[in-house]
Amino acid sequence: MAKKIAVLIGSLRKESFNRKVAMEAIKLGSKDLEFEIVEIGDLAHYNEDLDTQSPPKPWVAFREKIKSADGYLFFTPEYNRTIPSVLKNAFDVGSRPYGKNAWAGKPGAVVSVSPSALGAFGANHVLRQSMVFLDVFMMQQPEAYLGKANELFQDDGQLVESSKKFLQTYMDAFEKWVNR
Ligand SMILES: Cc1cc2nc3c(=O)[nH]c(=O)nc-3n(C[C@H](O)[C@H](O)[C@H](O)COP(=O)(O)O)c2cc1C
Repeated sequence: MAKKIAVLIGSLRKESFNRKVAMEAIKLGSKDLEFEIVEIGDLAHYNEDLDTQSPPKPWVAFREKIKSADGYLFFTPEYNRTIPSVLKNAFDVGSRPYGKNAWAGKPGAVVSVSPSALGAFGANHVLRQSMVFLDVFMMQQPEAYLGKANELFQDDGQLVESSKKFLQTYMDAFEKWVNR
């Protein structure tokens, strides 16, 4: 059976560069992996008071998706040198209730995308920090910091060739990582 990869995107923007890159990565990804974008925009802010015997339904559905996935692929912008709060909120929701961390024991990888030349380096590493604690085995190499995001796509919507090649290498490495 194909391994299921939950894809999380840290931007809610319609024209998000991160979402566009995620769509390309899924296209380039192994056909032996089943990628599913798990939307995170409707998850209520994490609040322990709501985490009762009957937590919000979107939390329950999200936790099930995360728990049943065989791996995670994250695409993140950088907001003020860290990850956007919507993504951190998803990490928190998946990590609770205490003792029921849905993320644990799976492989993961992160691609960060920004119009700035630094390629959201800061966010990339902040994300790794949470994932280490959540017991997700993050791929170390290759790293993916995609800068100058506004130059990544041609007028016809195609990803520029050099970035496509890089993303292919990354997705090939990700498949190997997931199957280790
Ligand atoms: C609140 C906020 C903070 C931002 N901070 C950073 C930052 O620290 N570093 C950076 O490279 N870009 C920063 N940006 C610009 C984002 O990289 C840019 O909006 C990018 O397009 C967001 O990704 P998306 O296209 O996937 O939505 C910030 C944008 C916002 C809205």
